Amino acid sequence: MKDLKTIRGMPDLYDEDVERISIVENICLETFKSFNFQEFRTPIVENKTLFQRSVGESSDIIQKEVYEFEDRNGEILCLRPEGTAGLVRALITNGLMNDEIKKFFYLGPMFRYERPQKGRKRQFFQAGAELIGEESTKSDVEIILLAKTILEKLNVKYTLEINYLGKEDSLNSYRSYLRKYLQNFKDELSEKVYSRLQRNPIRAIDSKDSNIQEIFKKASDISDFLKKEEKESFERTIKSLKDLKIDFNLNKNLVRGLDYYTGTVFEFTVDGLGAQNAVIGGGRYDNLIKDLGGRDLPAIGFALGIDRLAEIINVTTRKKDIFIGSVDDDSINFAQYIGNKLRENIKGLVVENYLGNANVAKQLKKANSQGFKFAIIVGQEEQNTNSFKLKNLLDGSENTLNEIELVEFLNG
Ligand code: HAM
Repeated sequence: MKDLKTIRGMPDLYDEDVERISIVENICLETFKSFNFQEFRTPIVENKTLFQRSVGESSDIIQKEVYEFEDRNGEILCLRPEGTAGLVRALITNGLMNDEIKKFFYLGPMFRYERPQKGRKRQFFQAGAELIGEESTKSDVEIILLAKTILEKLNVKYTLEINYLGKEDSLNSYRSYLRKYLQNFKDELSEKVYSRLQRNPIRAIDSKDSNIQEIFKKASDISDFLKKEEKESFERTIKSLKDLKIDFNLNKNLVRGLDYYTGTVFEFTVDGLGAQNAVIGGGRYDNLIKDLGGRDLPAIGFALGIDRLAEIINVTTRKKDIFIGSVDDDSINFAQYIGNKLRENIKGLVVENYLGNANVAKQLKKANSQGFKFAIIVGQEEQNTNSFKLKNLLDGSENTLNEIELVEFLNG
């Protein structure tokens, strides 16, 4: 039935897709917390003006990707396309603006009306981290270290690309320079493309279009427009990364697609995702909080594409611990008793109490195919003797254990 279709680019997620996404989410959560970042939850719906004033009127996101709608009160709202603007809005709304350094993280769905393809959806999930209130390169390094730690815990091979965009003055001079430079190519471009490039010439620098790449080949890059203190700041970041033995590529074309960036910008890219190879993007946004009406506080952060990463991680480890089957219906209560004893004694243990009617051989088959590490089958004999044959489903070995030994074994 046509009406019951999912929306393009917004797939239902189940089975292995959800498992992969949870693995990425859990590693993000664990790593954010280990760096002492605190969770922040903002609404999925915000006023569209928030993103016009932050992500930028001329950005692709505002030009063509926002899911917007008018509510019953005539307000123009939208589904959030990213998390930084909402978090900054929330800091201002809630008066969280003192001088203390603040470290927040968030996880959740974002929405962009882009052409769906591998690694790109219209509803996708991001995990983001924002470090507010520290201007020095120490915070650049802390944020990059956090991002890199997540990828390493996920066993993902990455490349870190890094660049430095100037503050407002330098960016404005660079923009004016590029607008003038582009005038030389006016005749070669259609009116539409020319006016798009004129509107946001910096963004066009990392265009995937080979004609546009050719045009920008001879243009100066942003580093020629940076002030002395900006160059020094970037050099300090580079030195710290080298001291910490963090490998990176300097990428002069890395300009990012959102307008709020000032200073250091970076992306982590991976193989195996085709054109959508950026799994993490971020940078410094020292003017955004002030521009949105808050205090003049510096900040840096990143967001990680959870679904994108979920597509490429290797899921080989068995996550489910023990399958408890039973010989017949009369043994199920005892199996449930044992299952709960194990759950009570071993934090986080994943225990399946099988409730169906399959025979023992089929139960063991199910345990295997569902990815359990161990299985026991409970019957009258196990109830009488309180001892169990623990089958290791990975190597086929067996161990006979009593209830206490079973807990100890699975706890080890
Ligand atoms: P972004 O580069 O637009 O930055 O998005 C960050 C990451 O989200 C991307 O590297 C990608 O992995 C994922 N992503 C973006 N769009 C899609 C999509 N359509 N489908 C799947 N994954 C996607 C931001 O959003 C900034 N708020 C990051 C930031 C935080 N900068 C400072 N603080």
